[in-house]
Amino acid sequence: MLKVLVAIDGPAGAGKSTIAKLVAKKFDLMYIDTGAMYRAITYLAQIRNIPPSNVEGLCNLINSISMYFENGKIIVNGEDLSAEIRDPNVSGNVSLYASIPEVRTLLVKLQKDLASEYEVVMDGRDIGTVVMPNAPFKFFLTATPEIRADRRYKELKEKNQQIEYKDILEEIIKRDYIDSNRQTSPLKKAKDAIEIDTTNYTIEEVVDEISNLIQNTIIKRRKDS
Ligand code: DC
Repeated sequence: MLKVLVAIDGPAGAGKSTIAKLVAKKFDLMYIDTGAMYRAITYLAQIRNIPPSNVEGLCNLINSISMYFENGKIIVNGEDLSAEIRDPNVSGNVSLYASIPEVRTLLVKLQKDLASEYEVVMDGRDIGTVVMPNAPFKFFLTATPEIRADRRYKELKEKNQQIEYKDILEEIIKRDYIDSNRQTSPLKKAKDAIEIDTTNYTIEEVVDEISNLIQNTIIKRRKDS
């Protein structure tokens, strides 16, 4: 039987999480937002005053908490932190915390454990390359920085957050740079991932394309076995 594991990577604002959630729903898979995991650690580190330089403190923090997903929401120590982790303070600092190798090792282990236990759609930056290198379905979503900033801007405006478009664009460009140039598991397309430029497509069109590819492979494997 084919185990359905779907890896969706790409830069911030390429539509990964919205698309991943819809694909998970279609195929009844668990959705795991790995960016939310790095954000949750950043959020907790900030309220506990653990700077990125305190690697031991960060590892102790990660080892002392429980973190799982329920209906796409991240639950940490029993508390839903979905709203807190979108705070601009977290968005502005998460790349720094996510570039620490020891932090990545611990979170990647958690992610691998989830993928070995369940059928999942996982989105992030290193899912197809590091977390699920053997996933049968890998996608790499891109879009221009301007369209990605525009999407984030609209999303945050809908949540009534006071924010300027130019600040979001600046942050996206800065985050792309840090995520793509860090030493450990930089944002990179896996060789066998299918690249989809979402700039001129709607969410539904991308979800349909990904779903058709998954469905066709499932049908083919069933016929072959
Ligand atoms: O997808 P996002 O914007 O919520 O991700 C938040 C940050 O976490 C982003 O700066 C990159 C980092 N990240 C990562 O390094 N590896 C992942 N697998 C997922 C996210």
